[in-house]
Amino acid sequence: MTVRRRLVAGNWKMNGDLALLAELDAVAAAAAAHPGVDVAMAVPATLIAPAVQRAPGLAIGAEDVHEADSGAYTGSVSAAMVREAGATFTIVGHSERREYQNETSQDAWAKAAAARRQGLSVILCCGETGAERDAGRAERVVQAQIEKSLPEQAHGDWLTLAYEPRWAIGSGRTPTLEEIAAIHAIARAKMRQLIGDAADGVRILYGGSVTGDNARAIMAVPDVDGALVGGASLTAAKFVPIIEAAG
Ligand code: G3P
Repeated sequence: MTVRRRLVAGNWKMNGDLALLAELDAVAAAAAAHPGVDVAMAVPATLIAPAVQRAPGLAIGAEDVHEADSGAYTGSVSAAMVREAGATFTIVGHSERREYQNETSQDAWAKAAAARRQGLSVILCCGETGAERDAGRAERVVQAQIEKSLPEQAHGDWLTLAYEPRWAIGSGRTPTLEEIAAIHAIARAKMRQLIGDAADGVRILYGGSVTGDNARAIMAVPDVDGALVGGASLTAAKFVPIIEAAG
């Protein structure tokens, strides 16, 4: 039976500055105190290098990368660039990229491939909108997203899937534990269909309004291997309890 280590990953989104990096001190201390839990933080591209310098023991990552290795893409940042800055992983396919930059699952696939070419680990996001859930389509939407974005040679050594229902992000609302269990089970099954036994080694994180109060219950759900945390990752006081809940 495959044992998957728990992963608690933060995502600062377009928040933070050099001063906020001080929060990483307590996060790094909590990570060191819980060696059984993997802890990671995705930060804005400009903060990657100073974050690595501030917290060398923490896995620091990017929130997105361009799908090309280099070229005339003004304003974009490549996987090689974030790797050089010290990132060890990147998020791809986040719902905010899908919503505001019109990114598709195909884009997420291409970005995952670009990240992989640079040796970065990948957190690949999926998740339905509120309207899709209300229409009873959540499971089909997530299955289709995984089908279109999962890298062919996906392996748990470098790929993590994150289920983030869009309507739960930053809303303070979460699906029921049964709803989380149902999606994580179908996500695992879909990955098995696509990459066979390797699917058992791929962690599936839940994301969307995770807090110190609900983290323990959510992470006890079968096939939930950790959390992807937005708002509560911005302060150590809110993020550390989530690490503790995973430990
Ligand atoms: O990537 C993390 C995320 O979108 C969840 O955000 O603020 O609901 O924890 P939040």
